[in-house]
Amino acid sequence: MRVLGIETSCDETGIAIYDGERGLLADAVYSQTAIHAQYGGVVPELASRDHIRKTLPLIRQVLDHAELTATQIDGVAFTAGPGLIGALLVGAALGRSLAWSWNVPAIGVHHMEGHLLAPLLETPAPNFPFVALLVSGGHTQLIDVQAIGRYRLLGESVDDAAGEAFDKTAKILGLPYPGGPELAKLAERGDATRFRFPRPMTDRPGLNFSFSGLKTFALNTLQQELPSAIDAEQTRADIARAFEDAVVDTLVIKCRRALRETGHRRLILAGGVSANQRLRERMNAAISAERGEVFYPRPLFCTDNGAMIAFAGWHRLTAGQYESLQFTPRARWQLMDLPPV
Ligand code: KG4
Ligand code: ZN
Repeated sequence: MRVLGIETSCDETGIAIYDGERGLLADAVYSQTAIHAQYGGVVPELASRDHIRKTLPLIRQVLDHAELTATQIDGVAFTAGPGLIGALLVGAALGRSLAWSWNVPAIGVHHMEGHLLAPLLETPAPNFPFVALLVSGGHTQLIDVQAIGRYRLLGESVDDAAGEAFDKTAKILGLPYPGGPELAKLAERGDATRFRFPRPMTDRPGLNFSFSGLKTFALNTLQQELPSAIDAEQTRADIARAFEDAVVDTLVIKCRRALRETGHRRLILAGGVSANQRLRERMNAAISAERGEVFYPRPLFCTDNGAMIAFAGWHRLTAGQYESLQFTPRARWQLMDLPPV
């Protein structure tokens, strides 16, 4: 079965084709960064309008790249939530309509299930069961994954998601949107020994996270240090480094704890923050020291993309799951509510 995947939940238009026998045939991502950068964050209405402009040309582009015609597509997968409702509606309406006109089944995919399954597109792919750390702009969740659709929430952020904390702290440091990768770049020049930020909620049992205090810590440190700073740029870099170290350490501590509590030895990381180089290095070192294994998507598939939606959709469509002509995009949608495959 050959599935067209459509991702439009936020500020990236992602289109891909996944073939059950041949794997990923084509993949294209268009990022709206330039549109939203001047506003310092995503403007939902502009996101929806741009998805309308980009979806069809990108679908033509991936079909051409894969040397396929529309008649050779056997199913359509579109992101049905969670995300910005207007942006979701664009991909869902288009995906459902295309499936109807091509007379093939359609499936609404959970965006976070897409992220969660993205490491399975790589070689070697992890076997089930495993612990998943989903770290994106909207979610920070630890999940016990027994199989596709068999998810148990182990812990999550009680306030800001890790990516959101990166973005807000980047803004405080005067960095352009999207802040996560910019902050990581600045942190490379930072001195790790100058400031020490707390590792929130690691001193008590449990697997929940809290990241909102770290941005306040960054703001207070900046306000305290800047007036007397000889090199303001270096101070910013040192704060970026202290912030990144705090987030990375916290995620590592909780992942080790989750592996111990579940008894699993495989860990997967997914979502935009899993592209972070320092996080990958520290996680690899910590988990391999305990004879565990860590899996990631390639950096391009850590952030939003169509490949993960085509892939997740393929799993559910081949299991006989599909949508009726009615489709319901959901701004909010719990991963744990998904049916097993
Ligand atoms: O998964 P994603 O593309 O979209 C959501 O589903 O939210 O994640 C985007 C988030 C943003 O907060 C972005 O700043 C963060 O991932 N991010 C990073 C890096 N690359 C993306 N954060 C830290 N370091 C990075 N290299
Ligand atoms: Zn995402």
